[in-house]
Amino acid sequence: MKAVILAGGYATRLRPLSCSNPKLLFPVVGVPLIDLMVRWLKQAGIDDVILAVNHLSDKLRTEIGAKRLGSKITFSIEENPLGTAGPIRLAKNFLGDEPFVVINGDIVSDVNLKQMIRSHEENNAKATVSLVTVPDARQYGAAELNQAGRITKFEEKSAQRKSQTVNAGVYVLDPSIIHLIPPARPSSMESMIFPRLASEGSIWGQKHAGYWYDIGTIPNYLKANKELLVRFHNTSPSKLAQHERPGQSKPAAFMGDRVAFQLLERQSGPGIPVNGVSITQPCFIGEASTLRPGASIGPSTILARGVNVDHGSKVRDSIIFEYTSIAGDCHIDGAIIGERVSIGSGTKIGPGAIIAGEVNIPSNSIIKQKAIVLN
Ligand code: GDD
Ligand code: MG
Repeated sequence: MKAVILAGGYATRLRPLSCSNPKLLFPVVGVPLIDLMVRWLKQAGIDDVILAVNHLSDKLRTEIGAKRLGSKITFSIEENPLGTAGPIRLAKNFLGDEPFVVINGDIVSDVNLKQMIRSHEENNAKATVSLVTVPDARQYGAAELNQAGRITKFEEKSAQRKSQTVNAGVYVLDPSIIHLIPPARPSSMESMIFPRLASEGSIWGQKHAGYWYDIGTIPNYLKANKELLVRFHNTSPSKLAQHERPGQSKPAAFMGDRVAFQLLERQSGPGIPVNGVSITQPCFIGEASTLRPGASIGPSTILARGVNVDHGSKVRDSIIFEYTSIAGDCHIDGAIIGERVSIGSGTKIGPGAIIAGEVNIPSNSIIKQKAIVLN
């Protein structure tokens, strides 16, 4: 079976972090979202993945490549954004005659895809939609179900919302629905195709009770990282090890991932120094990260791959994207810092600050609470 990940659009709600970095490459607990998705699909036996992209497609192609964690990756590139349905029509020639999975490219979840595929077949459905319950459904597509699990009404984003059961952005689709999508113009699965299938009685819902996040806004991105960091910490150390990417070469400098493992082995408490680095859990320290003696990390801190933190710097309650470098004696608290940022020594960054990718911050800067620093 194949899967399409919808990863186009401009991700405006994640600006400025999304200006240089497409959502699929955003680190979630330190690991690029694409890797979490590929792994999730693989658990259901799906290792043939089509990425429907437009904005920043060159960057995605270079960074992701044609193979990722053993799965085949095919790029289906739109010249202009085609919405959530148009890209599926565009990818028609890659899809063949079997049912296929579609996932919104900003979802982090443990939806049981195998089970969804099974019930899709049993119901002889044209579409099966994973559904989650949220307290405020206005930002989502809402579904009403009958007792048998058939979706009787589907309504995309509306202020007057009765059902708290919403579309999780994860579908199994029959290839026959491709012909309902108009070619070469923007169209929407949620506003056009799903309501039509609901009126025909050929779309089914499958409720999901595990974890589910749409990381498409800054508050949701933060929430997902914080909650999943705790979740991964509370599961076994081997789970955390799996979460990391194996097989990377290790530089001679002090290794971030080794810090994480040492601490897990010791069932670490607050502020235990390892090789002169003080780490207060929960933390995630990506592979090939370098923490110099005298650095202090955590709690609630995520460093993606290849982050450097120099002596005397304190980083707490923050998310740092890959290959960012923090010189000595900085204080970073409650911030999100994009990829390949260079932060000069003695800098202070206050709560709620967001720093776009590829920015250079001069030494001794003071970045105030909630400041947004653009490239
Ligand atoms: N290829 C491509 N082209 N992808 C697109 C385009 C496009 O023109 N526009 C949006 N996408 C991708 C986005 O990258 C995202 O991964 C996915 O389609 C959904 O778009 P969002 O903009 O994130 O939609 P949403 O979060 O407001 O709502 C959707 O997701 C909710 C669940 O999180 C809808 O499917 C809702 O019904 C659903 O409840
Ligand atoms: Mg979304």
